[in-house]
Amino acid sequence: MPEVEKLSTPLTIHNLLVNRSADSLAADARAGLTARPKRLPPKYFYDTLGSHLFEAICQLPEYYLTRAETAIFQRHANAIVTAIPNLTSIAEFGSGSAVKSRYLIAALLAQRDVVHYQPLDISPEILRQSAEALLESYAGLSITGYVCDYLQQMPPLERRHGGRVLVLFLGSNIGNYTPEEARALLQRMRQTMQPGDGLLLGADLAKDPRVLEAAYDDALGVTAAFNLNVLLRLNQQLGADFNLRQFAHRAVFNAAQSRMEMYAVSRVAQTVRLAALDLTVEFEAGEMIHTEHSHKFNVAQLAALAAATGFAPVQVWLDEREWFSSNLWVAV
Ligand code: TRP
Repeated sequence: MPEVEKLSTPLTIHNLLVNRSADSLAADARAGLTARPKRLPPKYFYDTLGSHLFEAICQLPEYYLTRAETAIFQRHANAIVTAIPNLTSIAEFGSGSAVKSRYLIAALLAQRDVVHYQPLDISPEILRQSAEALLESYAGLSITGYVCDYLQQMPPLERRHGGRVLVLFLGSNIGNYTPEEARALLQRMRQTMQPGDGLLLGADLAKDPRVLEAAYDDALGVTAAFNLNVLLRLNQQLGADFNLRQFAHRAVFNAAQSRMEMYAVSRVAQTVRLAALDLTVEFEAGEMIHTEHSHKFNVAQLAALAAATGFAPVQVWLDEREWFSSNLWVAV
């Protein structure tokens, strides 16, 4: 049974991860570290420390994505929430700190007295903190949060106050999936929606590889810390003995696939033991663990993606430099 926790009236948090996350980390670590090439799934970046490191990434001068998307919302939040008639609820996949979502929530609360917000996130601490902060900021807001891995379990969309739902999938979340995975995920999201509901999809656009590589390998080293934190997590949760100083962060642009690729690179030949898995893993000097990719799109590809997944594109907003896109689609 999922654990349901009720605090004061406007906040309910469902935890669908209870008793699941430890098992899946063990299984995914075993599968990924015994594969060739080695890999680890990106969802494990976002424990409490990882979520905070990601918030720090969003503040870096090199990581333009968050600022570009924020600028779009500052300018167009009103147009976005009015483009879906009779909108009363907002849901968000991978809500994190939900700082950008505030622009949309505030714009909708300027039009109507009550709004429902349904954030989904894999980190219980971050979900709780962001939900409590939102409720402090906005009277008229009610929240149903889900701690979940939405690749495994997609909760039903709550529609309150009798109107339509706008689903947010922001940042460069969609870019972290292969084209096939992205289509499958959007189709599953579409199944939780009704015709007329909206999807606001953030998507980073293709650009000069030097800009991209800096965004994913900043001078301060925060992105490196974020990437290697997944090894720290294996030490803490699976009794592994990764020596983090013996691994480096690498970010390279793959032009053929229009994606950034992130790796943890073994600086030396070494052996790592994962006690909880009774597993020993050998690394050659320079051997890489693939941890993430981040696809960079063009506007035509995004329109095709809408059509392939049960949506019709409504409008696209770009930032001034045309580096980032906010795509509003409607479920058909
Ligand atoms: N969704 C983010 C993106 O693709 C995640 C991210 C940012 C990331 N920087 C990273 C993932 C560095 C791995 C390594 O932009």
